[in-house]
Amino acid sequence: MQRLTTRLGNLWWERRLGVSTRGIVAADHPDATHYATMSYTAVRRILAALELGRDDVFGDLGSGLGRVLCCAARLPVKEAVGFEVNDTLTEAALANAARLRARKAEVSVRRGPCEEADFTGITAFFLFDPFGERTLRAVLDRIEKREPRTPLRFAYANPVHARVFAECPWLEEVAFWDAAATGLEHSVRFYRTVP
Ligand SMILES: C[S@@+](CC[C@H](N)C(=O)[O-])C[C@H]1O[C@@H](n2cnc3c(N)ncnc32)[C@H](O)[C@@H]1O
Repeated sequence: MQRLTTRLGNLWWERRLGVSTRGIVAADHPDATHYATMSYTAVRRILAALELGRDDVFGDLGSGLGRVLCCAARLPVKEAVGFEVNDTLTEAALANAARLRARKAEVSVRRGPCEEADFTGITAFFLFDPFGERTLRAVLDRIEKREPRTPLRFAYANPVHARVFAECPWLEEVAFWDAAATGLEHSVRFYRTVP
């Protein structure tokens, strides 16, 4: 019953936003997770917890068809930026962003593997289990080396490689949402840079 309610809710949100982000697409990059997305309920709750504001540039690492980007772009943020290695998904995400109703912020996608991406300007990151431990470590190393060293927040949904975050002394965990307690489909861990 819960699953049916979630599916109907997702359909309702897709209609309301004017986008199409459902489905599963096989991975086409080493160490990548296949494309899948979270319920709109989960995405909206996670974005709310990040407390995004007008000075924030939101980044989705592995942005897929753009569901999270579209939800973030309806909030009063400076910009919503995707990072995606699969060009077919990126084209579809940009088409979704162009159709998105009540968009408040620009949406762009930085194409290519996150382990080679330019993270300049991003203030709040979202990850929905996009890749394996090796890639996550490389991506976090790259983010740590950013200039200027501005404060960052992270939300990591389905945090199967949370130990990679735990190994980063420049990050601290600020909240843990257990799936069983929240009723969301996955657990979520939140981090920020150590002040
Ligand atoms: C589980 S999906 C999450 C999609 C989106 N964040 C969402 O929640 O709706 C993971 C995405 O990460 C992308 N991805 C995997 N490895 C990547 C990499 N190294 N660099 C960039 N994107 C990657 C995949 O192509 C896929 O679209």
